[in-house]
Amino acid sequence: MKKGLFITFEGADGCGKTTQLNLLKEYLIDMGCNVLVTREPGAKGLGERLRDILLNYDGEVSDRCESFLFLADRAQHIDTIVKPALDLGQIVLCDRHTDSTVAYQGYGRGLDIEQINRLNNIATDGLKPDLTLVFDVDIETSMQRVGGEKDRMESSGDEFFNKVRYGYLEIAKKEPQRVKVIDATKPIEDVFEQVLTVFKTFEQ
Ligand code: TMP
Repeated sequence: MKKGLFITFEGADGCGKTTQLNLLKEYLIDMGCNVLVTREPGAKGLGERLRDILLNYDGEVSDRCESFLFLADRAQHIDTIVKPALDLGQIVLCDRHTDSTVAYQGYGRGLDIEQINRLNNIATDGLKPDLTLVFDVDIETSMQRVGGEKDRMESSGDEFFNKVRYGYLEIAKKEPQRVKVIDATKPIEDVFEQVLTVFKTFEQ
């Protein structure tokens, strides 16, 4: 039985989700909560190796292979980090999770969404986030934030990132209870206010 709380942070590269995750972490720690911050891909150990391949490998990577590498990282992450933390009653704040594979490999690369949903379910052993925040930002702003030096995924181009953005908004439409969209074009403090509003509403 899961005891803790599992919150995931999602959005296109450069959306500002990691900054907001850290602000929520500080807020929760100040409130006396037991918080674990983690990420996909590459929380630690084997995951870090997989992250390096996924973001930096400069040879050919097929779309299906890319999906399976993210899913492999996810299975390891859930089994060795997320589930044990939730069993201890911790609040787990996770930078990217299943919706990234749906948005990037499904909507972005064009792989079958239903198949990805099934594979995600296998990788997570059926565990679902309690709450997911999607940080929505236009592609121009997100690419400006990413800057000049782009990794393998960030180099996928504007058309790809438009599809990713659309994908996230579709996910939010399909699962409005779990997935909340945050307007991430605003300044950091305003975005965090939206995060807190969603979090407090969810808590009640
Ligand atoms: P980030 O940790 O800086 O957000 O970078 C991770 C990259 O990996 C980002 O471009 C999104 C991508 N990604 C996928 O394409 N599919 C996935 O399932 C996950 C977790 C990440």
